[in-house]
Amino acid sequence: MKHYLLGAVAGVAMIGAASAQAQTNVVVGHALSVESHYGVGAQAFIDTLTELSGGAFTGEQAPASQLGGERDMIEGLQIGSLDLVITSTGPLGNFVPEALALDLPFLFRDYDHARTTLDGEIGQELLDQMRDADLVGLAWTENGFRHVTNSQRPIRTPEDLGGLRLRTMENRVHMAAFEGMGAAPTPMAWPEVFGALQQGVVDGQENPITVITAARFWEVQGYVTLTGHVYSPAIVLASPILFDGLTEEEQGWFLEAARASAAATRAEVDRLEREGVELMRANGMDVITEIDRAPFQELAAEASWSVFTDRFGTDMLERIAAVE
Ligand code: PAF
Repeated sequence: MKHYLLGAVAGVAMIGAASAQAQTNVVVGHALSVESHYGVGAQAFIDTLTELSGGAFTGEQAPASQLGGERDMIEGLQIGSLDLVITSTGPLGNFVPEALALDLPFLFRDYDHARTTLDGEIGQELLDQMRDADLVGLAWTENGFRHVTNSQRPIRTPEDLGGLRLRTMENRVHMAAFEGMGAAPTPMAWPEVFGALQQGVVDGQENPITVITAARFWEVQGYVTLTGHVYSPAIVLASPILFDGLTEEEQGWFLEAARASAAATRAEVDRLEREGVELMRANGMDVITEIDRAPFQELAAEASWSVFTDRFGTDMLERIAAVE
């Protein structure tokens, strides 16, 4: 069996060289559990690839940040020590700066708007740009609209965020947005987050319902406010060292498997959007569903949109706004 996993960040060694009829095992790294929306998407990728290839390709998940934080995993793809990663766009702007557009708060109106944009011309252009950073963008998938959780108090207005030590992803746009809304943003890689909340190093964090439930944040956070302050895309990325070694037919299977992965993940996001509030309440969280988003939007946009527009202008943002 041939493995493309050359040696993970965690130090896993390369296994075996290929024989002509070798079966190839592809490792799909991600940050969450196998039961999460990423786990569902990773499994759909593996199952579809195995089916399309008639078993020539098999796969396994490396879940729960086993191979490092999302930034580490992206770096692993660049050097060929990892095969495939499903990651949020949190660290992606550090590799492909134009992708920072997708992280702007209050950019997408709703799920339909985000999905139509990412499945269309704009999404394809951004996928193509991954090549500039020695990455292969196979498909846009999804994390979901992000919401604020914390251990201190219910958040109803930006004033309630005042001084709250809030973990953000390592993302300049998100940090600027929360600074603008009055919080004290603390960038941190995902594997450290649960412990930091537990030990009170930070008071809160922000993530979609998918992640809040998958991570069982009710064990360390009493309050959730459905701020929906930003849509959080995710992406299926491959290593060019793996992808460029495939035949055209095999590349087609990988692309189709990535699209199947995105469809399965989005279906799971939809399910958790329907059922997640009850699940969080049943586990003791105080869930605030109705807030006036306008003041959050004004402060967040004023503080963060220029991080993107100062460098790239407003063209892409106008095109995204025009997507029906
Ligand atoms: O908060 C993050 O870092 C991301 O949303 C997560 C949980 C790793 C999923 O991509």
